[in-house]
Formats: sequence, structure tokens, C-alpha cells
Amino acid sequence: MPSPFDVLQVDRDADEETVHQAYRRRVKEVHPDQGGSAREFQLVQSAYETIVEGTAESWYETNGTDEPATAAESAPEPDPNVHVEYLDYEAVVANGWELGDDELFRKARRAGLDDDAYGELTVEPGDYLLEAAEGAGFDWPFSCRGGACANCAVLVVGGELEMTVDNVLSDELVAQGIQLSCIGTPVSDDLQVVYNVKDLPGLEELQLPSRTS
Ligand code: FES
Repeated sequence: MPSPFDVLQVDRDADEETVHQAYRRRVKEVHPDQGGSAREFQLVQSAYETIVEGTAESWYETNGTDEPATAAESAPEPDPNVHVEYLDYEAVVANGWELGDDELFRKARRAGLDDDAYGELTVEPGDYLLEAAEGAGFDWPFSCRGGACANCAVLVVGGELEMTVDNVLSDELVAQGIQLSCIGTPVSDDLQVVYNVKDLPGLEELQLPSRTS
């Protein structure tokens, strides 16, 4: 149902003179003698009266706004998934890169590595990182799948990964960014991890015999 302003073809904040001029024009356009109809004529008259009487705003209260949705209203729903950029530690070593290099992931992006070594995957809310990697077809290292070894360790370079159960990692390793992907749930919108870091100092002695998925 058109608003009174739509009927007169003026903006909602049009001034009195603009409304009056629009009314005069519209009345001529829809007059039955000019090819219009009695219903259209009445509609224009009614719209004009509603606006000049100052009651047009109540039309919106009754019918809602017919204005285009604001940017916030029409914005797509935020993506609840976490986007993870991963890099295989073997690729770090093979290319002579350093884990502490601020440019590490930028270098990896430009290196043309295979999908196994570098890429992005998506983790659904509450899912474990290792499971998400396996679900994406990757074969990341693991053994116990319960926080009792370091086979599935990753180095978190950006974002946050939260471990959900007690585990074998020392506070010192955790402070360095080491987390366990089998019990690690991303809690930031984005995450950057170097996986396959199980042979780093302090982790090697925590390994259990490897298993494959
Ligand atoms: S596989 Fe053992 S802690 Fe993750």
C-alpha cells in the first residue's frame, strides 16, 4: 500500500510548497476527465489532506515503513564460521623460514605451496581444529585425540584457539603459542596456525606413537 508521500510522488521530508505543487500536478494527472479514475483522484485528495493535516506519520505507524532497508538491515548475516589459514612446519623448514618471522604467512601465500602445506579451511562454531582439517581432507598428525600427547600440536600465530580439556602442555609452551588441535576450538573470527610442529623442542618428548586417520 503506497504511503501518502508515494501517492503525491514527493519525499517524506518535502516542504509544504513542494507538497502543494505536487498535489496540483497529481490531481490533473489522475482526474477522471484526463484519463484517470475516481479512485485515483480520491486517493490523491486523501493523501494531500493527510499530509497537510500532519497525520501522515501515523500512516507509517500503522503500515510500517516502505523506505528501502538501511545498510544495517540489509547487511548479510555475519559468517559464524572461523577461517583458518594454515601452514605446514615442514614447509617452513624446507624454505628456510623462521617461525618468529612476522612475514611468515605472507611468504607462504606467495610461495605457491601445495594445498597440504598451505591454505585455508573453515571451522564451524564449537568444532575442533583437527576434526575440521580432517573433514577438509587433510592428514594432520595426531595420536591420542584427548590432550595426552603433543602429536597434534600447532603453533598459533594469529587469533585464538582454546583447549577444552586438561592437557600435557606446560604453561611455558602454551605461552609460546603451542596448542593441541585435537582439543582446540577456535574462538576468534580468524586463525593462523603452523601445524605439524610436534618435533619442536619441548614437544618431541611428549609424543606418543603416531596414528593416521
Ligand atoms: S592427538 Fe594427542 S593431544 Fe591431540
